[in-house]
Amino acid sequence: MTETDDPRLITLRDMKERAELGGGQERIDRQHAKGKFTARERLLELLDVGSFRELQPFAVAHPEAEDAILGDGVVTGYGTIDGRRVFVYSQDFTVYGGSVSLAHARKIVQVQEMALNNGTPIIGLLDSGGARIQEGVLSLQGYGEVFRQNALSSGVVPQISVIMGPCAGGASYSPALTDFVIMTDKSSMMFITGPDVVKSVTGEEIDHEGLGGAQVHAGMSGVAHFIGRDEEHALALVRHLLTYLPSNNVVAPPASASDDNPARLAPELNTLVPQEPNLPYDMLKVIGAVLDRKSWFEVHANWAQNAIVGFGRLDGLSVGVVAQQPMVLAGSIDIDASDKISRFVRFCDAFNLPIITFADSPGFLPGVSQEHNGIIRHGAKIIFAYVEATVPKVSVVIRKGYGGAYIVMGSKSLGADVHFAWPTAEIAVMGPEGAVSVLHRRELATAQDPEAMRAELVADYRRTHANPYYAARRGIIDDVIEPARTRVELIGALNTLQEGIRPVPPKKHGVMPA
Ligand code: HXC
Repeated sequence: MTETDDPRLITLRDMKERAELGGGQERIDRQHAKGKFTARERLLELLDVGSFRELQPFAVAHPEAEDAILGDGVVTGYGTIDGRRVFVYSQDFTVYGGSVSLAHARKIVQVQEMALNNGTPIIGLLDSGGARIQEGVLSLQGYGEVFRQNALSSGVVPQISVIMGPCAGGASYSPALTDFVIMTDKSSMMFITGPDVVKSVTGEEIDHEGLGGAQVHAGMSGVAHFIGRDEEHALALVRHLLTYLPSNNVVAPPASASDDNPARLAPELNTLVPQEPNLPYDMLKVIGAVLDRKSWFEVHANWAQNAIVGFGRLDGLSVGVVAQQPMVLAGSIDIDASDKISRFVRFCDAFNLPIITFADSPGFLPGVSQEHNGIIRHGAKIIFAYVEATVPKVSVVIRKGYGGAYIVMGSKSLGADVHFAWPTAEIAVMGPEGAVSVLHRRELATAQDPEAMRAELVADYRRTHANPYYAARRGIIDDVIEPARTRVELIGALNTLQEGIRPVPPKKHGVMPA
C-alpha cells in the first residue's frame, strides 16, 4: 500500500479539509461578499508567515451529532508576531454565526490558560452572534469561564481583542476585560442590548452602527482604544502595539536600538508655550519632539481628548506617556479623562513601562453634570493609580499645575521619582484670577477702579506664586529645565531609574475608587 492509499491518512486529510472549510464554501463566500476575511485568513494576516499552529481543529459541541461542524466556530492556536510567541483565537462567523457553545468557549479558555502559563500575549479576533441559543445555559457557563480567565490573566500577560463583526450582549464583557480593544470601522459592533431591545424599552430609535459601531466606542464610550480602517489595518495595529509591550509582567518591555540621538536638543520647545497664559498650544508637539523620532503611538486618540495617553520610546526604551491637551477644554480633567489616565497608568505599571507625565491643567472640570456623575470618585482613580505604580515615574510641569490637577498629574507627593518643571510652569493652589478673587474680595468690592486693581493683583500673584521657582526652592520640584533639554533630562533620569524597586505595604489588594 502506498502512502496515498492509506485510508488512515486519507481520513485525516479529509477531516482537516472539512475543518478548514468551517461552515462551508457558500458561507465563506457570503463572508467575503461583506468585505470580511474568514477566521483563518485573519490569523494568517496577523501572524508571521508559516508560524500558525492550530489546536483542536476537530472539537465539536456534540460529538454524537452527525452534521457537527469540526472546530465548532473558533480557530485557536499559537504562532509568532515579529518572532515573538503569541496565543490566538479567531471566531468563525461561517459556523453558527461564530456563536459560543461550551466547547467553543473551552477552546478559547485553553489558549488563555496556555498564554498565562507560558507568559505570552493572547490575541482574540471576535466575530460572533453571542451565546449559542441552542446551548442554553451551557453557553453561559462557557462565557463565564472565558471571563474568569480574562480577569486572572489581567496584569500578567497582555490581552488584546479585535472586534471584526458583531459582539453583542454579555459577550462584550470579554473584550472589556482585556487591555486593548480594536474595532474595525463600519463592520464591527458592540452593545449590551441591540437596537430592537433599546427601542422596546426606551423608545429610542437607532441603528447598529449608531448604537455600537467603531466610531461610537472609540470616540464616545471609550470602550475601544483603536479603530482599524479595515481588517488589515486592525491586525497591523495589533502587531505594532506589541512592539511596545513585554510578553508578560516579569520581563522588561522590548528595547529596540534607537536611531535617534539621546543628546538631541529640541530648540523649538523653547518658544512653544505662548506668553499669554490662556492661549493654547499643541501638547502633541512636546511629545513628538521629546520621544525618539516616529515612536509615538497614541492610545484612545479619539476619546477624552483633553487628556493624552500613549506609548513611545526614549533612547529605545518603551515608555507610557500621560499628558493634557491644552487645545481641548484647556486641558482640564473631567470624568472621562480621569478614567483614561488612571487605566493607562495602571496598565503601564502592570507591564513595567516607565511613566512620563507632561502636565498642563488648570484643574478638574467644573460643572453640575461632572459633580453629579461623580468626578470625585473618578478623579480619585488617578491618584490611586499613580501612587500604586512602582515603575519609574518622571513628570514635567509644562505650564499650569493648579490645585488638585497639580497633585494628580504624577507629582512628587504621589511618588514621582523625578519632577521637572519648565520655566513657563505656573504651580499654585489655584489660578491667579480665582486666587485674587478669594484673597482680595473686599478690597476689590470697594476699589475705585476694580479692573485695574485686579489686573495688578493678578500680575503680582503670577510673579510671586504662579511660577516654578517657589516649588523648586522648597524641594517640591527637582529642577527647572530648559524646554529644549527635556529629552536629554528624561533619558538621563530613566537611565538611572530603570531598575527601581519600591516597597509597597503588604495587602491583598487596595480598593480602587470606581
Ligand atoms: C446560534 C446563531 C446565533 C446565535 C447567529 N446565528 N447568531 N446561531 N446562536 N446566537 C446563526 C444564524 O442562525 C445563521 O445561521 C448564521 O448564524 C448567520 O446569522 P445571520 O443572522 O444570517 O447573519 P447576519 O444577518 O449577518 O446577522 C448577524 C447577527 C444576527 C446580527 C449576529 O445573527 C443576530 O442578531 N443573532 C442573534 C444575536 C443574539 O441575540 N445573540 C444572543 C445575545 S445574548 P445559518 O445556518 O443560516 O448560516 C448573549 C448572552 C451572552 O450573547 C451572555 C454572556 C454572559
